[in-house]
Amino acid sequence: MSLSAGPDPTINGLHVVVTAGGTREPIDPVRFIGNRSSGKMGNELAAAAIRQGATVTLVTAAAAPSQQPGLRVVAVETAAEMHAAVRAALADARVLIMAAAVADWRPREVAQNKLKKGADTLTLELVPTVDILRALRAEDAAAGVFVVGFAAETEHVIDNARAKLDAKHLDLVVVNDVSQEGIGMGADDNEVTVIGRDGTLETIARAPKSVVADAIVRIIASRLR
Ligand code: CTP
Repeated sequence: MSLSAGPDPTINGLHVVVTAGGTREPIDPVRFIGNRSSGKMGNELAAAAIRQGATVTLVTAAAAPSQQPGLRVVAVETAAEMHAAVRAALADARVLIMAAAVADWRPREVAQNKLKKGADTLTLELVPTVDILRALRAEDAAAGVFVVGFAAETEHVIDNARAKLDAKHLDLVVVNDVSQEGIGMGADDNEVTVIGRDGTLETIARAPKSVVADAIVRIIASRLR
């Protein structure tokens, strides 16, 4: 596999949708349920796809990267907003890369006013958020789109990632072991294994996320051929 820079003829001119960051599920006007995702991996994937000639819609729940030609940013907060934005962006897309850490739970009720201290305990009732990848399949919104999911795992890393590939009908899954220090969520580096539907397994050694992103996009391009 070549890691050299420069447009990839397969991906050049295609529309790629990338999600980034951790969704925020509101509790009240000032509080939310969130996670440690920084949005760096998604931002680097967007930049890598642009370097390789794609136009990118970045649907992000994190701070947006600076503007650049070929990049359209859609800012979202919740899983439901991300779902709607991705569905809209997929209309003419060829590839979806779901790098976002979508919250799995949201408060059933969002308080209109700021919750006040006072009681000794506070119980929040949580309900599942929409599973965006499953919902897009169910709505047939991803027909003809090459879908790449991410899996953040702490045990049985490869087996769990394979199970997600099947359950979410992914074309590729990019898995990282988030129990390791210094890589993955929030970190500057990553080390991932890319698993294909056909069972192929490619490991990308620990490197800055920009380098890992270039390698992932090149693997995606090779599968589009
Ligand atoms: N994902 C999604 N919608 C959700 C949760 C996750 O589309 N509500 C996507 C993520 O963007 C990622 C993939 O599904 O590409 C796997 O996410 P992950 O959090 O690892 O898996 P979950 O399905 O949430 O399963 P679990 O948390 O039980 O491991």
